[in-house]
Amino acid sequence: WLGHSEVVRSLATSCPQFFYKGMVPKTGLEPPNPAEICQHYNNQYQFATLYDTARRIPVYSAYIYEPGAAKRSQGWLIEPQLVNPKYSKSMETENNLLNREDINIQDIGSSQATTQDYVGLKGLTRGHMNPSGHHSNFTSKKATFTLTNIVPQNDKLNSGAWSRYEVSTMAKKSKGCTTTYVITGAVPGNTNIANGRVNTPSHIWSSACCVTKSKLVAWAGIAENNKDKVQQISLGDLEKMLSNLYTRGRVSLFHSDCPRQ
Ligand SMILES: *[C@@H]1O[C@H](CO)[C@@H](O)[C@H](O)[C@H]1NC(C)=O
Repeated sequence: WLGHSEVVRSLATSCPQFFYKGMVPKTGLEPPNPAEICQHYNNQYQFATLYDTARRIPVYSAYIYEPGAAKRSQGWLIEPQLVNPKYSKSMETENNLLNREDINIQDIGSSQATTQDYVGLKGLTRGHMNPSGHHSNFTSKKATFTLTNIVPQNDKLNSGAWSRYEVSTMAKKSKGCTTTYVITGAVPGNTNIANGRVNTPSHIWSSACCVTKSKLVAWAGIAENNKDKVQQISLGDLEKMLSNLYTRGRVSLFHSDCPRQ
């Protein structure tokens, strides 16, 4: 079924709660071989990912920003239903899946990145789209350590300007927000890792639309994946940039109620 634009689960039906007013952005973003992953862990849907199964990176992950302190874990998870739609809907370790089903690691890696793909990188690291720091308990943090939520990210950017955007900018901008919807993604680049298996994005971007008591507020940021710098821009300007960068049509990330300027 791979290569036929099959859908694991529809985000609009399984995962609308992670998008403002349930609007799932796809136009202008969808790759030729997408998978919609309603990320499931520990008996709960945790966040949503639009995944590019050919480049083996997410287009974006969408989630609700609820930062908090809790222990974070290590160890990486994969998506069983990208191997076979009949498998478990919960993310799990490669070894768990290998022990339960009659498959090998190549089967797992055929349409997603595996742990091995990210071994021995130089100047790049595993960059979260949905970061663990934006969640408040062990389970919701742990669920972000799934490789369908990860791209090869410049290591200086990951620990530098992008980290400051995730921690400080997000905290500042979301003051007064009751619910903050976030969509963070990556634009495919011209280089790759793991012998061409996993694309190295040219840009990493993030956008938010938040609900306050009186109005909606939106903001965005974008970084080139070879510089330690995040450019803060309006939601409207990010959408224009992404339309030009993806060249798949006009991008609209959030419901039209979210302010563009
Ligand atoms: C963790 O946080 C999420 C999101 O707020 C919540 O839905 C979930 O119930 C929490 N889980 C635990 C184990 O406290």
